[in-house]
Amino acid sequence: MIVLIGFMGAGKSTVGKKLARHLGLPFVDADDLIVAAAGQSIPEIFAERGEPGFRKLEAEVIIGELNRGDDGVFALGGGALESADVVFALRRHRVVWLKVTFRRAMQRVGSDGNRPMLADPELLQVFLRRQHRYEQAADYTIRCGSRTSTDVAQALYELFDTNPVE
Ligand code: S3P
Repeated sequence: MIVLIGFMGAGKSTVGKKLARHLGLPFVDADDLIVAAAGQSIPEIFAERGEPGFRKLEAEVIIGELNRGDDGVFALGGGALESADVVFALRRHRVVWLKVTFRRAMQRVGSDGNRPMLADPELLQVFLRRQHRYEQAADYTIRCGSRTSTDVAQALYELFDTNPVE
């Protein structure tokens, strides 16, 4: 699979849908799979099970999808790489990091009630810790800067048109 990673607000889902359409592949969003598996919204999962409970379910769902062997474009949630098992399961996939600055990510997400991690007072530390994980896992890095999702998607089309998915 082509797997999109990066912090909240990087545009993984928006860009992922465009890329999937371009390549004629199915698009899968990890957060949608988690919500379907739990039968609850993401804020409800955090409220009931805490972040550790969310991470456990997230890792199970993502690893299940990665190991199914289906082709597609898969957008992971920003915290998915907190799990070493997810990082390990990524090794046979083509991983693209949509890299954004903290400031840009915060501008993009605004005050989104659907993202419980935004309430974390240490969010900048979380961002910094994750940068290293994204970098380690990524086969390709796309610097999003102030580019629109259309421009970022275009960069991905060029990447996969010249490095086709077998
Ligand atoms: C999270 C990111 C969210 C979602 C959950 C936790 C995080 O996904 O999985 O709210 O820890 O960064 P997006 O990156 O798609 O917003």
